[in-house]
Amino acid sequence: MKKISVIGAGTMGNGIAHCFAQKEFEVYLIDLSNENLKNAKETIEKNLDRMIKKSIITQKEKEDTMSRIHFYEQIGECVENSDLVIEAVTESKKVKLDIFKKLDLLCNQDTILASNTSSISIADIASATTRQDKVIGMHFMNPVPIMKLVEVIKTKQTSQETIKTIMDLSCVLGKKPVLVNDSPGFVANRILLPMINEAIHTLSEKVSGVSEIDTVMMLGMSHPMGPLQLADFIGLDVCLSILEVLHEGFGDIKYQPSKLLKEMVENGELGVKTQLGFYDYSNGMKEKSVNKRFN
Ligand SMILES: NC(=O)c1ccc[n+]([C@@H]2O[C@H](COP(=O)([O-])OP(=O)(O)OC[C@H]3O[C@@H](n4cnc5c(N)ncnc54)[C@H](O)[C@@H]3O)[C@@H](O)[C@H]2O)c1
Repeated sequence: MKKISVIGAGTMGNGIAHCFAQKEFEVYLIDLSNENLKNAKETIEKNLDRMIKKSIITQKEKEDTMSRIHFYEQIGECVENSDLVIEAVTESKKVKLDIFKKLDLLCNQDTILASNTSSISIADIASATTRQDKVIGMHFMNPVPIMKLVEVIKTKQTSQETIKTIMDLSCVLGKKPVLVNDSPGFVANRILLPMINEAIHTLSEKVSGVSEIDTVMMLGMSHPMGPLQLADFIGLDVCLSILEVLHEGFGDIKYQPSKLLKEMVENGELGVKTQLGFYDYSNGMKEKSVNKRFN
């Protein structure tokens, strides 16, 4: 594998591009607008600068990494000869199905198509293609350059060869792949999202405040970050989409998204990416304060 295309340059896509480019792959990063690509480039540069400061990489390694990332506004010729395409666009089944249909037409027969979806059925995504044996879930965690886990999701149709290639490739990236079966929310989000949803219910019922709830889970359960701050990092829109998939998939009321979560998403309070979620990040990450609506 040499050439990797990443569709979507948001929170996850820019991190995935960063990791592959750092390991000497040529990366084609695609998003809908020049502005999104510019933001992605700035984020990758900032993250590489942080690694220089910590003496993890040199200035030259940063420059080499950046030179291997190519930015495109459209899914076109650049995906044709890719060995692997990783889709990391908005968590919408319709959007993902359209993209996989397009990729199936454009890419070589041998190209593996992976989705970074948090919850949408990989079998459903694969059904938009004529190469179901080469479609797999490659679920990176946020922030991608730091988090070690890749949840690799196989369907009944995914070939052993595809599974082995993706498991091996994850190791080349320095990650730990864990193979799981296709099921709503897979393993990670089936367990994580009900906890986040419950934390939001606890807040909306005024059992306690934002930082108090997070502190209970950090100091009481040894979680490195509280569930409300984690929701801000994931993106409240992404959390809502995952809960909707779990609710639809299992039909169980325990997965029904909290009203407060829906209201915040409608209001554009999406967390870190809009600088306002359960916390306000407008003065920087270190100076975060609780969103005024909860005071
Ligand atoms: N945020 C997380 O913590 C997290 C963790 C693991 C997996 N995921 C999954 O990763 C995927 C991306 O999530 P994100 O948090 O990076 O979202 P995001 O909103 O930060 O970024 C999504 C990007 O996709 C782009 N996009 C949308 N439609 C497109 C199209 N047709 N072609 C090209 N680009 C398109 C958008 O412009 C945007 O820049 C989702 O499936 C999400 O469930 C997210």
